Amino acid sequence: MATILKDLWNFFYLQTWDTCLVFINLLAPKIKKGEMYKEGQPGYKGIWPEFIRPNPETDSRSPCPGLNAMANHGIIPRNGRNIELSSLAEALEKTWNLGAPFCRDTCNSVGKLFKKDAIDLSDLAKHNIIEHDSSLLRSDAFFSPDQTVPDKQLIERLLGSATGPVAPEYPEGQVTPADLGKALSLRIAESKRNNPQFSLNILHSFFGYSNASVFYEILGGDVKTSRIILEEEKIPDGYESFMRSRKGLTMKKQYFRAAHIWFHTNTQLKLKDE
Ligand code: HEM
Repeated sequence: MATILKDLWNFFYLQTWDTCLVFINLLAPKIKKGEMYKEGQPGYKGIWPEFIRPNPETDSRSPCPGLNAMANHGIIPRNGRNIELSSLAEALEKTWNLGAPFCRDTCNSVGKLFKKDAIDLSDLAKHNIIEHDSSLLRSDAFFSPDQTVPDKQLIERLLGSATGPVAPEYPEGQVTPADLGKALSLRIAESKRNNPQFSLNILHSFFGYSNASVFYEILGGDVKTSRIILEEEKIPDGYESFMRSRKGLTMKKQYFRAAHIWFHTNTQLKLKDE
C-alpha cells in the first residue's frame, strides 16, 4: 500500500511539475545559440570531453546511442558500470536539455523495471524489458544477439529516407516525424515477416515511439549530427541540443511528438517482395 501511495504521489508531483514547465517553455524565449551549456559544463563553447572508443573487453554498453555516447565522452562513467540513476537523471538533463521531470520519471521507471538504484549500461540490453523487437535502428535480438552494437545499415536507411529539406541548420537534410512513422512501420512489418520469435506489446511499442520522438526533439532529425551520434556514438564538436526550450523537453511535448509519429505509421504496410 505504501508503495502504491508513493508511486501515485510521484506521478502527480512529476506531472504537475512538468505542466508548469510546459507553460514556462511557451512563455520564455528560446535558448540562444551558444548559450545552452554553462561554463564548466560539458559542451560549453561547443567543446565536449574527449571521445574514447569503448573497450569491448572491459566496458559495458547499452542499445541506446544517447547513453553510450555519454559514456564514450566520460559524462557518465566510461566503463558504463554502476551508474547511479539519480546522477544519470542530472547528467541527461544537462547534456541533452531534457526536462528535469522527464529525466526523473525515466530514471525512476528504469529503477523499477530493473529493481536497482544503479545500473550497468548492458542491463538495458536485456530483451523485452526496455529493449524490444522492431527497433528503429537495431535489428531484432533474434538476428543480432549483441544489441549494444549500432546497425549501420539500418541507420543509413533511416537517414537516407529523410525528406526534410536541406537548410542551414540541416546541411544534409532532416528526418521528419512522417519519415520516422514510415520507418517504424517498415521495421514492424519486417520483424513480423522475418522474426519467428517476434513480440511487441503495447508498452514496447510505446517505447519505440518514445525513442523516435527523443531522436527527433534532441538530435533534431538532423542527418549530419545524427549520423555521428548514432553510428559512432560520439557527440560532434559544436553540438548543442536541438531542444531550445528554456526548461528542456517536457513529458507532455514528448507524448505529443510520439503521437505525431504514431499518426504517420501504416500498420497495413506491405513489403515489396510479399
Ligand atoms: C535514462 C535515459 C535513457 C534510457 C534508459 C534509454 C534506454 C534505451 C534503450 C534500452 C533503447 C533500446 C530500445 C530498443 O530496443 O529499441 C534505447 C533506444 C534509443 N535511445 Fe535511449 N535511453 C535513454 C535516453 C536517451 C537519450 C537522451 C537519447 C538521445 C540523445 C536516446 C536516444 C535513443 C534512440 C534514438 C534510440 C533508438 C535506437 C534504436 O532504435 O535502436 N535515448 N534507449
